[in-house]
Amino acid sequence: MNNSVFHKPVMAREVIESLSLKNGYKILDATIGLGGHARHILERILPDGFLIGVDCDENALKFAKDQLAGFGSKTHTLLHGNFRNIDEILSGLAIEAIDGALFDLGISSYQLNDAGRGFGFGGDGALDMRMDPSRGRSAYDIVNRLKRDELENIIRDFGQERYFRRIAGFIITRRKDGPIESTGELAALIGKAVGRRYRSQRIHPATRTFQAIRIAVNEELANLEEGLSRVVDFVRPRRRICVISFHSLEDRIVKFKFRELAKSGKGRVITKKPLTPTIEEKRENPRSRSAKMRTLEKI
Ligand SMILES: C[S@@+](CC[C@H](N)C(=O)[O-])C[C@H]1O[C@@H](n2cnc3c(N)ncnc32)[C@H](O)[C@@H]1O
Repeated sequence: MNNSVFHKPVMAREVIESLSLKNGYKILDATIGLGGHARHILERILPDGFLIGVDCDENALKFAKDQLAGFGSKTHTLLHGNFRNIDEILSGLAIEAIDGALFDLGISSYQLNDAGRGFGFGGDGALDMRMDPSRGRSAYDIVNRLKRDELENIIRDFGQERYFRRIAGFIITRRKDGPIESTGELAALIGKAVGRRYRSQRIHPATRTFQAIRIAVNEELANLEEGLSRVVDFVRPRRRICVISFHSLEDRIVKFKFRELAKSGKGRVITKKPLTPTIEEKRENPRSRSAKMRTLEKI
């Protein structure tokens, strides 16, 4: 399957420059996705380098395998796993040190465009939203089982949605008639709750609530916090960790984690302010619009 037509890796040039890639480097791509960044990385670290690609979504690994086939199987390895456990993943491969790591957070176009996965509200898919469908609670569980205050907290904290009370209230009332089964049903319900209030805004009324539920389902913020804490011990001195985030909650975690690592003498923050895509990239690839990239160098 060839996805290069519809997938463009975000801030690829900036990633490559930030990681200061050289022939022979061993690089971790902790979110291999469709292998877009990985291709650029391999082009710079071969013939002697090696890429370790991880993704918690097994489908991603199939796409990435196809994308990277041309480089030859000895140049990389692809593993199913959560970067939260990156220490176990690398140790399992008997890898003690790496020359750089990339975390390109969030979901990929293939996940968003597959209505059956439940990430988008454009179609009418099952309420799932798990990046790793083999484990954990789904969006269905969150929407249909949580108590009112738990729902409110998720929508407020992870969605930064000011109408969190009203949306949670509509969900709780609607649940009395039976479970909410699909993304279409949920999006319509949110539209009924706050559609009028969103009339003058550029985003769909369900955008923030869907983001909130997705973050909760996948424990995205905890994964990031732990993944960064654990990966740093594997990175060789003067080598770098590069993170691309897509919303302010993630960016804040990266910023404070990098600051903490700098204070403890483990690293040096390279990006005092996050880098953002060029105007041309934002125009060509709307998904890149909210991207922020931060880099830490190991000491
Ligand atoms: C934005 S995409 C990466 C795209 C990739 N850089 C490319 O160029 O094709 C993010 C990927 O990270 C994966 N992912 C998100 N959180 C993860 C985690 N905690 N552990 C492993 N993979 C994760 C998602 O399944 C998705 O495939």
